[in-house]
Amino acid sequence: MSGNNRNVDNLPWVEKYRPNKLDEVYGQNEVVSTVRRFVSEGKLPHLLFYGPPGTGKTSTIVALAREIYGNNYSNMVLELNASDDRGIDVVRNQIKEFASTRQIFSKGFKLIILDEADAMTNAAQNALRRIIEKYTKNTRFCILANYAHKLTPALLSRCTRFRFQPLPIESMRQRIDNVIVKEKVKISEDALNATLKLSKGDMRKVLNVIQACQAGQNSNENEIDEELVYECIGTPKPNDIKMILNSIMNEDWNTAYFTMERIKVTQGLALVDLIEGIVEVLEGYELKNEETRISILSRLGDIEYSISHGGNERVQSSAVIGVIKSSFEYEMV
Ligand SMILES: Nc1ncnc2c1ncn2[C@@H]1O[C@H](COP(=O)(O)OP(=O)(O)O)[C@@H](O)[C@H]1O
Ligand SMILES: [Mg+2]
Repeated sequence: MSGNNRNVDNLPWVEKYRPNKLDEVYGQNEVVSTVRRFVSEGKLPHLLFYGPPGTGKTSTIVALAREIYGNNYSNMVLELNASDDRGIDVVRNQIKEFASTRQIFSKGFKLIILDEADAMTNAAQNALRRIIEKYTKNTRFCILANYAHKLTPALLSRCTRFRFQPLPIESMRQRIDNVIVKEKVKISEDALNATLKLSKGDMRKVLNVIQACQAGQNSNENEIDEELVYECIGTPKPNDIKMILNSIMNEDWNTAYFTMERIKVTQGLALVDLIEGIVEVLEGYELKNEETRISILSRLGDIEYSISHGGNERVQSSAVIGVIKSSFEYEMV
C-alpha cells in the first residue's frame, strides 16, 4: 500500500465528514443541548441513544466525548461494538480492565460507548447490567441501538433515553451543501432533492449515494442528474412506475408484462423494487374509489411476502399485473 492510500482524500465521506464537534451534529438540537447541560452540571447519567441508522448516534457521543476529554480521549473513552461475535465475556474483560485501571492524571468519569447493543442476547444484556452497576462509581456508559424495544427493561431503566429522529430534509441539506462545496460536486437541484427524499432521514445514505454518483462520473465536469441518483440508489424512477401502471391499466396483458420486464432489465431492478415504487406512486394517486387502493395494497403486500419466501419471480410479476388490473375494476363501477 502506498502512503497515498491512507490520505484523508481517499476516505469514505461518512468517515471524512463525521462531525468532530457537537456543533457539527445537525438536526438533533434537543439531544445535543440536553447532554451538554448534563455535562456542564457535572451530572452525566448513563445514556441510551436509539433510533434509525445514519441519524448521528455514534457521531454525537464521540463528539461529546471529544468535548469532555480533549486530548485525553484515548485514556478516558472505550469504544466497543456489542455485535462483535466474541461475546459478552470479552466485552466484560475489556470493560473490567478499562474501568478498573486507576486514573492517575485526570479526575472525573471514564466513558464506555457500547455500539449496536440491540444485537446482544438477553443473557448478555443482563450481564451488562451487572457490569454497569459494578462500575458506576467511576464510569459512565453510553449505549447505542437502533431499537429500544430489543433491550431488556432492566438495562433500559438504568439509562436516560434519547430518541434520534430521522433527520429533517433541511438539516441534511445544510450538511450536504457543505460537502458539495468541499468536494466540488456538480449536481442538479432535482438530483439533490431526489437524494434527500429517497434517503428518508439517513445522512449516511445521502453521503454514500452522492459519493458513489461522483465516483461514477467519468469527468468532474459532468453534472450528476436525477437519473444517475435513481440508478445509484437502485430505486425505480417515478416516471417508469407511472409507465408500468399506465400500461397495465390501458394495454393488454402481454404488452404490460413486457413493459415491466423491459424496465426491470434496463434499470437493473428486482420485482420488489417495483412493488415498493408502485406503492409509493399510488400514494399520490387520486382514486374515485378507496376500495381500489386498499385492494391493491393488501394484495401487493401478499406478493411481496411471497417473493421474500422464494416465490417465482415470473409468476409473481404476473400476479402484480393481475392485482392491479382487477383492482382497477373498482374504478369502473
Ligand atoms: N445529525 C447528523 N449531523 C451531521 N452528520 C450526520 C448526522 N447523522 C449522521 N451524519 C453523517 O452520517 C454518518 C453516519 O453517522 P453515525 O453517527 O454513524 O450514525 P448512526 O450511529 O446513527 O448510525 C456520519 O459520518 C456523519 O457524516
Ligand atoms: Mg452508529
